[in-house]
Amino acid sequence: MPEPKRRLLVTNALPYANGAIHLGHLVGYVQADIWVRHQRMHGHTVHYVCADDTHGTPIMLSAEKAGVTPEQLIARMNREHARDFRGFHVEFDNYYTTHSEENRELAYDIYRKLKAKGLIAVRTIEQLYDPVKGMFLPDRFVKGECPKCGAKDQYGDSCEVCGSTYAATDLKNPYSVVSNAKPVLKASEHYFFKLTECVEFLRRWTQAPGHLQPEALNKMKEWLGEPGENKLSDWDISRDAPYFGFEIPDAPGKYFYVWLDAPIGYLASFKNYCAKQKLDFDGFLRDAGTEMVHFIGKDILYFHALFWPAMVANAGYKTPDAVHANGFLTVNGEKMSKSRGTFITAESYLQLGLNPEWLRYYYAAKSNGTMEDLDLSLDDFVARVNSDLIGKYINIASRCAGFLTKYFDGELSLPDPSSHDGKNLIHGATATGQLLKELYRQRDFSKALRDTMAAADRLNVAINDARPWDLARDDSKRKQLHEVCSTAIHGFYALSIWLAPVLPETARRVAREFFGLKRDFVWEDLKVLPARINPYTHLMTRIDPKQIDALIEANKESLQAAPVQHSAQRHAQHQEQTVETIPSATIAIEDFAKVDLRVARIVKAEHVEGAEKLLKLTLDLGGPTRTVFAGIKSAYDPAQLEGRLTVMVANLAPRKMKFGLSEGMVLAASDAEGKTAGIYLLSPDSGAQAGMRVK
Ligand code: MSP
Ligand code: ZN
Repeated sequence: MPEPKRRLLVTNALPYANGAIHLGHLVGYVQADIWVRHQRMHGHTVHYVCADDTHGTPIMLSAEKAGVTPEQLIARMNREHARDFRGFHVEFDNYYTTHSEENRELAYDIYRKLKAKGLIAVRTIEQLYDPVKGMFLPDRFVKGECPKCGAKDQYGDSCEVCGSTYAATDLKNPYSVVSNAKPVLKASEHYFFKLTECVEFLRRWTQAPGHLQPEALNKMKEWLGEPGENKLSDWDISRDAPYFGFEIPDAPGKYFYVWLDAPIGYLASFKNYCAKQKLDFDGFLRDAGTEMVHFIGKDILYFHALFWPAMVANAGYKTPDAVHANGFLTVNGEKMSKSRGTFITAESYLQLGLNPEWLRYYYAAKSNGTMEDLDLSLDDFVARVNSDLIGKYINIASRCAGFLTKYFDGELSLPDPSSHDGKNLIHGATATGQLLKELYRQRDFSKALRDTMAAADRLNVAINDARPWDLARDDSKRKQLHEVCSTAIHGFYALSIWLAPVLPETARRVAREFFGLKRDFVWEDLKVLPARINPYTHLMTRIDPKQIDALIEANKESLQAAPVQHSAQRHAQHQEQTVETIPSATIAIEDFAKVDLRVARIVKAEHVEGAEKLLKLTLDLGGPTRTVFAGIKSAYDPAQLEGRLTVMVANLAPRKMKFGLSEGMVLAASDAEGKTAGIYLLSPDSGAQAGMRVK
């Protein structure tokens, strides 16, 4: 009996539009993309959408800092994000934005329906306000001393030193991160969604089979409390101007909090896609047979398993059928770190020529469908990819295909399908295919790949035993050679289909170029043995560990950039740098002479898009100009710098940084610990000329 075809709307969390996509983000996107491709290979209909999450205070302030409008900022980020996802073969049907008319209309509609149901309340609350900047301060924009342990420079929601959480108003000696002013308490009217009235619905929704992973359900039970108990509070869904977002209907100066319209962005992206594809948006969502599945990171479970279902259910929209949460990425067992170079951007990975399928494979091999964190251990990454993908999988084709092309014109020897061998081959491929299908469906990619590689191991053992390279030297063994190599290539064919959700680009080339299919693989192809191959062309290279070194180097923020990091990072960095702060050993004058110090004129100083600490300087040394990225943004306005003289190291090896090539270094003083005591650029006495040597 053919299985019923599923109709799925699949979404990934919408990345914030004020930062680059990094390898941590990619965990969830790669997992969802693999799952979507698996569904499609079985003939199910999937609409797979995403968008940028564009609203809120951080984006408004980022744009201001970069001297552009929020609209300009989000347009650029949208292009970059879409490019990065494409680069990793995360193939959304639509990549849209929450700052769209579709999203505004849907948000208004949902809000009005909640209001009509009496689920919106207006209350006056007191909040910290920056009197200099003239805006209310989100928790992350207030810092001060931790009320529990007294640690300095802690955010308004939690302490990174002792881990306690508190209200921003509890901070001692608070200051605004925006203007440094002392915040004052100010009252204002806020709009609330009455989540407290949705508890019974949420108990039912969260417990329905398949909606949540077991660990997520446990969290929900904690948050919801026992029946009869009410642990939730109403949800504050408004923010005061100035804010970048949608103004609330009939509430001038009040805006929807970014998290209200963000998940609605899933529907907006789908609606925009439906219009382009002439699909029936309302019909699809109304149809009881369709499923809406959200892939998210575990940190945003609260929004997706409580606020979101409660909102859509009460507004008469489709409720989610499943929310799948992924764990967090660590690199080499630690949180990603800019100073260690492990805060790796998707862009840098692709630009350095690393193969996106290596990372997809590694992530898949470590994804088991739970909320457990996942570690990218870089040595293990190299070892695993080289051993599994090259050593086991690719190796089969690269060792055997040549003989088939050379001696048999690419024809494969096909066992009679009704013979014992023929049945075994097909049966083996489809039986394993059945198991793997189930594992993919459950998102246990890790087990699926272990089984796949076990099959590859068996094939390699069989090839090693049969020694086709020896058989090829003996004319009387042609038939045997033909059979051995054909069996190997039939195995390679099945492996390629099994791996297709994880390695879509390789599978596409294997299907079309190697086996001459006019389309990509579908799972059903396991039932048909291919009859011939085209000459084998190289499919995938090994990872050279040097590529990983280059990747780390490219993502390292310069040491000069250290002084403006916030406390926890600064703390970490300080420990790493103890080596550098030990008084240096004496050096000979020849050693000093190796350093070519020159007077340089700053002809141009610019902000660098996306860089927190760096300014881009164009320096005149009397000859061709040099570009240097300097970590002095916290201390200098670019306009202030243009025209002035400073001192630079002119013979430093150029360094590829995230934002471009840095061809030297300017000299600046700061205190040893990299505290925010300031950064002071050196200048020569007046009369010095650009290009003069400093000795
Ligand atoms: N904008 C919100 C999501 C709104 S959805 C309606 C957001 N954006 S984010 O850019 O911070 O994160 C996007 C996704 O990446 C989220 O699912 C988040 O959990 C995930 N991750 C961000 N950093 C991550 C790791 N280090 N590891 C794994 N996933 C990570 O949250
Ligand atoms: Zn503390």
